Amino acid sequence: MGFFSSLKNDMKSLVSGIFSDKPAPFASKKGERGEAKKATRSLLVKEVIVETPDARTLVLTDPSGAPLDFEAGQFFTLLRKIDGKEVRRAYSASSSASVSTEVRVTVKQIEGGLVSPRLVKELSAGETLEVAGPSGQFTLPKGRKHAVLLGGGSGITPLMSIARTHLALDPELKLDLVFGNRGKEDIIFREELSALVEEHAGRFRVRHVLENADPIASHVGRLDRATVLAELDALESFASATSMFFLCGPVGMMDEAKAALESRGVSASRIKEERFVSPSDSSQGGSEGPEDVEVSVQGDLFTVTVQPGMTILEAAQDAGVEIPFSCTVGGCASCRVKLVAGKVALGEPNCLDPDERKEGYILACVSRPLGPCKVEVE
Ligand SMILES: Cc1cc2nc3c(=O)[nH]c(=O)nc-3n(C[C@H](O)[C@H](O)[C@H](O)COP(=O)(O)OP(=O)(O)OC[C@H]3O[C@@H](n4cnc5c(N)ncnc54)[C@H](O)[C@@H]3O)c2cc1C
Ligand code: FES
Repeated sequence: MGFFSSLKNDMKSLVSGIFSDKPAPFASKKGERGEAKKATRSLLVKEVIVETPDARTLVLTDPSGAPLDFEAGQFFTLLRKIDGKEVRRAYSASSSASVSTEVRVTVKQIEGGLVSPRLVKELSAGETLEVAGPSGQFTLPKGRKHAVLLGGGSGITPLMSIARTHLALDPELKLDLVFGNRGKEDIIFREELSALVEEHAGRFRVRHVLENADPIASHVGRLDRATVLAELDALESFASATSMFFLCGPVGMMDEAKAALESRGVSASRIKEERFVSPSDSSQGGSEGPEDVEVSVQGDLFTVTVQPGMTILEAAQDAGVEIPFSCTVGGCASCRVKLVAGKVALGEPNCLDPDERKEGYILACVSRPLGPCKVEVE
């Protein structure tokens, strides 16, 4: 009994036809079953660099020599097989986007996490990783001459890529980084940041906000709303009406930083956010029972059964129905489909803009049906 119930959970919808009176969720289609499209590539882990006791940088290269192009601030999605199930996690590139022979991602171990401890403690040079991407819009708009980067902990990764890339490319660009951490030993890229400040003196300033007192700290405490305001005042000399603000770090820090910027009248168009907690991992709504979703792909109709907790994309992939995808965390819009009937719980945050929402678009990778639905893949 225990064996069967755990097996049933493990196999989720793939075997649900065997264990329940629902039909197996292979897509019922007027036609044949296709293979889910996997826009991934196999990358070699060339090197693993120890950054802090719980953070590692993975240097990834394409063994075929093909370039690894991305924009500074974008992320890649790593796929791992764990206990027979494919899991995906997004990791921002931390390296310069001007170097296309490799991409570096920097992973901080989350205590009790499924994937990050394996990447930090078990992965070694010479192994290969399945990788999708790049994805994301956490990038510096063209022509901006000043940006404030507000980061906390592992949230430094896309900010580091932005600093490494754009300071070298644009001699007129000025960047400020306010970086929150618990202690000095937790600061990822501490020495490299100092070197960048020296290299780009007068154009790149870094202020460390540390919870544990240390001489390098500009402020001792948390990067909360009051501290962000004080730090912005200290950095005022570079500021202009077109300065951009990039926020990446723990949820609480980002909310506080955003509130601080809003209280100063900074418009939403000048604030960019990258949230690391994947909406597809949090159980954001969805039906309590299995729901049928009719998926229309270029005129072909498939019916996919979505089990509780699953996203439409996961169920479609299990059923062999092709919905394009890349990041799987609501960040790239590759899986955008039109909801033509029914209701879904749409994971937040995601990258759909208000107009797309009004027109009925949803992201299959973070959508869970609330009843029978129909969606169209465009
Ligand atoms: C666009 C994007 C870019 C990202 N870039 C990076 C990166 O450059 N470096 C990096 O280390 N991580 C990054 N992440 C986070 C990463 O994808 C994983 O979520 C993280 O490594 C935890 O995965 P896990 O499987 O170990 O934990 P899980 O098993 O998924 O989660 C375990 C628990 O930890 C919570 N949790 C998950 N992530 C975090 C977090 N970051 N902080 C606090 N609690 C968390 C979960 O809600 C859950 O309760 C990024 C996420 C996104 C969406
Ligand atoms: S796959 Fe990127 S938003 Fe869904």
